[in-house]
Amino acid sequence: MKGLVLCAGKGTRLRPLTYTTAKHLIPIANRPVILYTLEFMKNAGVTDVAIVVSPENEVLFRETLKDGSHFGMHIEYIVQPQPKGIAHAVYISREFLDDEPFLLVLGDNLVFEDISSVVKSFESEGVDGYILLARVKDPRAYGVAVVENQRVVHVEEKPKEPKSDLAIVGVYLFRPIIFHAIENIKPSWRGELEITDAIGYLVEKGYSVKAHTIQGWWKDTGKPEDLLEANRRILDTIEDGQCAGKIDETTTIQGRVCVEKGSIIVGSLIRGPVVIGEDCKIVNSYVGPYTSIGNRVVLENCEVENSILMDESKISNLSSRIDSSLIGKGVRISQNGRLPKAMKFVVGDLSSLEL
Ligand code: G1P
Repeated sequence: MKGLVLCAGKGTRLRPLTYTTAKHLIPIANRPVILYTLEFMKNAGVTDVAIVVSPENEVLFRETLKDGSHFGMHIEYIVQPQPKGIAHAVYISREFLDDEPFLLVLGDNLVFEDISSVVKSFESEGVDGYILLARVKDPRAYGVAVVENQRVVHVEEKPKEPKSDLAIVGVYLFRPIIFHAIENIKPSWRGELEITDAIGYLVEKGYSVKAHTIQGWWKDTGKPEDLLEANRRILDTIEDGQCAGKIDETTTIQGRVCVEKGSIIVGSLIRGPVVIGEDCKIVNSYVGPYTSIGNRVVLENCEVENSILMDESKISNLSSRIDSSLIGKGVRISQNGRLPKAMKFVVGDLSSLEL
């Protein structure tokens, strides 16, 4: 079975970070989101994968993941020239998919459930499609399905009045009949060819689409708070005792903390779960629970908690704690203590500061 991962989305809700990277490449617990997705596919037995990218982010993906061989996968790249929707991305991948059944995953969806038994039943039962669902409180932002005896009887994309509480998780199993369905749908109100409408076409025409409701945790990581939640979830699973860095005797480490090689920690309190990348310098600082710190980050006289700090940021001499923040690469934040007491910013477009 082949795999298709969609990563062409612009990530507008994660600007300004997504001006310089793709949302799927933002690190969670110091690994890009996409790696968790690829691992999920590999666990389901799918290793021959194409990633649909945008013309802007193609190079970033190629540089980060290469041909996938270093993590036991075969990865190809397909460029979606314009953001015309999930179904459009699937349709332009026909040649790669080559009339085989395939697993489709939206690259920003994190699903922590082993779906190998779902893949097996899809293959053995010969159904035309399989979708994953999850019960949510407010399903209006998702595709919503109505299911009877495991069979999907109705689907609707972002309904104002949902007919069930079952949201469509961005994981689907299809056979080539889906291309015929895509040929028969029209763009939605948002100008996109919706995969939900293609599934609806299959259901209407009497094809069999089954559903599996996941019990585990999943997240569409489209917004900053989603990334922080995903970061907390993954940090909750890190193992203890992986400290390759240098920690001096005036530093206190509490809980599960992982410090990569080349990092130095002096006179600080690190309260896990926390991951700290390579070649960081942390001096006289507090790093609180659920914080991920990338490579070559410098922290001096400051406090950080429940945050993601990307490579090469430098934060020093702050009188307030940084909390629930996403800090991009090479960011500088400091307080100089000089008068007049004023705040001085050089902040990119669509940055968000809460003081
Ligand atoms: C897409 C799908 C939607 C699905 C959701 C899951 O929505 O269209 O059916 O429920 O992903 O994350 P989008 O993220 O494009 O708004």
